[in-house]
Amino acid sequence: MRSRKVLLVIAFLITWTYITYYILLRSSNPELSKSQFKSLARFLPHAQNENIKSEKLARNLIEFLKVRYLEDQDVPTTGTTPKISIIAAEISDEVADVAEKVTPARIPTQTHLANGEPVIPILVFACNRVSVKDCLENLVRYRPSLKQFPIIVSQDCGDEATKSVIQQFGKQVTLIEQPDQSDIKVPPNEKKFKGYYKISRHYGWALNTTFRVGFDFVVIVEDDLNVAPDFFEYFLGTHKLLKKDPSLWCISAWNDNGKANVVDTSQPELLYRTDFFPGLGWMLTKDLWAELSVKWPKSFWDDWIRHPAQRKERACIRPEISRTRTFGKIGVSNGMFFDKYLKYIKLSTDFVEFTKINMSYLLKENYDSTFLRRVYIYPLVTYDELRRNLIAIKGPVRIQYNTRDQYKRLTRMLGLMDDLKSGVPRTGYHGIVSFFYNGRRVHLAPNANWKGYELSWS
Ligand SMILES: *[C@@H]1O[C@H](CO)[C@@H](O)[C@H](O)[C@H]1NC(C)=O
Ligand SMILES: *[C@@H]1O[C@H](CO)[C@@H](O)[C@H](O)[C@H]1NC(C)=O
Repeated sequence: MRSRKVLLVIAFLITWTYITYYILLRSSNPELSKSQFKSLARFLPHAQNENIKSEKLARNLIEFLKVRYLEDQDVPTTGTTPKISIIAAEISDEVADVAEKVTPARIPTQTHLANGEPVIPILVFACNRVSVKDCLENLVRYRPSLKQFPIIVSQDCGDEATKSVIQQFGKQVTLIEQPDQSDIKVPPNEKKFKGYYKISRHYGWALNTTFRVGFDFVVIVEDDLNVAPDFFEYFLGTHKLLKKDPSLWCISAWNDNGKANVVDTSQPELLYRTDFFPGLGWMLTKDLWAELSVKWPKSFWDDWIRHPAQRKERACIRPEISRTRTFGKIGVSNGMFFDKYLKYIKLSTDFVEFTKINMSYLLKENYDSTFLRRVYIYPLVTYDELRRNLIAIKGPVRIQYNTRDQYKRLTRMLGLMDDLKSGVPRTGYHGIVSFFYNGRRVHLAPNANWKGYELSWS
């Protein structure tokens, strides 16, 4: 009786899929307008995908019927036939798979606005911190369009209190829940890092789930971030760079050296390229996710992504003044680091109309031929001259470092981050770390015949 019902459901699903597919084919007549054609082109791969799946279902179904009704005579009457159970299990697996797809479908499915602009989901990672409320209030308040920037909150950990905080935002946000709450086996010496394994699993699932809808871009935000008033405008103004320039792989809203005393507060529109992956409010493309998702690591995804094997010499865009600020993390990451450093990062308060700014100065060929060239023309000074204000000329200057130890010493004295990941200093571009000091632009730079980053400097 039960298997009959299952068969009926399957038969219905298959018929439905075929009819949809047929109608779709029929409607592809030559009179299609350009925009209709475009949306069809976007839809077709999904349809094909579904079709392949339904064919597989059909094959299994036929197999099932063959076994059930043709080979029945040879089957011993006692007990169940292994073959039947195996196929039945396969079918119900696939049915479950189809059913599961229905849940994430609550994510808005429109990938482009009528005017062709992309819909850019803001994917917020939440777990068990009710302070996600601050983060969401901020995002909802500054969001210029609900349609263009759907906020998807992905929750891991299944914490009820956090879930109900998220649900209070009603239709303003879409809640999705990481379904795999199974324990993760970690090597004994990494037990204390289990949190990082969970984060990695959560990122992998949520990004897969979101990009599967077909969006070209996704912006990632963590539950402990506040965003600036022009956070959305920043990504709107820069997203085209990611498509245009293959040497870019992310847009980040974060300046690792964004403390109020080392940024130029009169230049909130200023942006930089950086070889260092900053994270903390960042945008990636569908293509990059296709590349990374198949080798996504089990833990420490941020260190992994900074490794040359992933980065492949690509850069990110970062602002002079941060468009995100972390309000403190209790949990997996280090609280000390927050007290010592992160809490001094300045969150931009201006609204810069990034969409009206010509961003082509950030494309690699333009940037390298202006920024890099200029840095090495600026006068070379020492830290001491800078600190004691002994520089007679106005304008930007350069301080040189040659060794890792020099780099560490200088950054500590200057009040900058002194660490490097995969040999890349925070905010560095071709080894150059640019900041503001005593009212002056300063570039901490390696010598002019720099050969590339040294992994051993990390
Ligand atoms: C994402 O989905 C792809 C395709 O289904 C799969 O190969 C990959 O392992 C998934 N990645 C993660 C991190 O879940
Ligand atoms: C943007 O600036 C570049 C030079 O950096 C120039 O060639 C280009 O024409 C400008 N584009 C627009 C739309 O003004």
